[in-house]
Amino acid sequence: MSAAVTSNASDALITDIASLRGDFPALRQRVHNRPLAYLDSAASSQCPQTVIDAIVRQQSQNHSNVHRGVHQLGERATMAYESARERVRDYVNAASEHEIVFTRGTTESINLAATSLGGSMLSAGDEVLITWMEHHSNIVPWQMICEKTGAHLVPVPITDAGEIDLEAFDRLLNERTKIVAFVHVSNALGTVNPARELIEKAHAAGAVVVVDGAQAMPHRRVDVRELDCDFYAFSGHKMFGPTGIGVLYGKERLLEAIPPYQGGGEMILTVSFERTTYNALPYKFEAGTPNITGAAGLGAAVDYLSRIDFAALEAHETALLDYATERLSEFGCASIIGTAADKASVLSFVIDGIHAHDVGTIVDGAGVAVRTGHHCAMPVMERFGVPATARASFALYNNEDDVDQLIVGLRQAVELFR
Ligand code: ALA
Repeated sequence: MSAAVTSNASDALITDIASLRGDFPALRQRVHNRPLAYLDSAASSQCPQTVIDAIVRQQSQNHSNVHRGVHQLGERATMAYESARERVRDYVNAASEHEIVFTRGTTESINLAATSLGGSMLSAGDEVLITWMEHHSNIVPWQMICEKTGAHLVPVPITDAGEIDLEAFDRLLNERTKIVAFVHVSNALGTVNPARELIEKAHAAGAVVVVDGAQAMPHRRVDVRELDCDFYAFSGHKMFGPTGIGVLYGKERLLEAIPPYQGGGEMILTVSFERTTYNALPYKFEAGTPNITGAAGLGAAVDYLSRIDFAALEAHETALLDYATERLSEFGCASIIGTAADKASVLSFVIDGIHAHDVGTIVDGAGVAVRTGHHCAMPVMERFGVPATARASFALYNNEDDVDQLIVGLRQAVELFR
């Protein structure tokens, strides 16, 4: 266990969530001559100063390749990379660092699972069960491997509130279901899925479970052993780390059993023209020079999150989402898409008669960053009969002032377009 984790564990956890905003330098700027109200953290969250410092330190003092040089910088780079892996392992409570594979992000993690796991276990007539609320990155990789193997992709419907239809889930899960892949927290709706319950049911049916955890990591304390998921994918840049780094957690026996995803340096033990033997876990899945600086940044992000009391964080974010939901209802002409009983930090909405892109452009003029479009979840848009939504997404650093600024921007949009 790294020194940072040991000392953090003995420190009192931070419960004053509002005090954390000052840690994020990007939030101090003005945009269009207004204070920035950054409400697009589901697309990418801002980095605290400690993450920025870790990136600068790695790049300015330790930059070198990993697992190769015997020189000082090579050793420091390897230490930074492997200590980040250990801190991530500790943070998600994986049993071994062999189970933490560094990837480019959630998308690559799911592509790895679909290609290596799906490619080795699916055959014609098998089924992969997903849901209607998946991000494209948890649809398309499965579609591609189904096309190759002759398996079928089966989406579970969602309700008008944007929750998984659990009766349909039970009905569609059967002996042909080999893989169940679902999102822990929906990026387009904010729905928090009952992951533990779904995993238990999938296991009872004999399926392997892959969870897209990208949106859960900044809002919930995830424990992969408590969930008992087989694979769990997430991205650094949604959890206050840098872009270009992510993780695929996988149970060791499953990662051992499946073939490598990409070939190249690092992932081999021996190479000859006749035969290649593969490296031990997790390196078997880390071909080529990895994103060492990204890992250092992700390690610092995990250190940052480790210091926070997640009960207080959830209370802060729930209160803010409730406040935003209430303020939005002041507009008689706004409809919220996604009204699940358990939601995390996403407010997706449409305003009658105004296209979401116009909403986004007008509120940007008021210094407010929201995302507009289909949010890489076209089936969700189809389900709710809208081409696009405007989405305000919150993180631990947001407050009611950000929401008030959004409401000012929305009033301007309504006045201009109606
Ligand atoms: N998946 C990211 C989002 O929801 C990009 O915005």
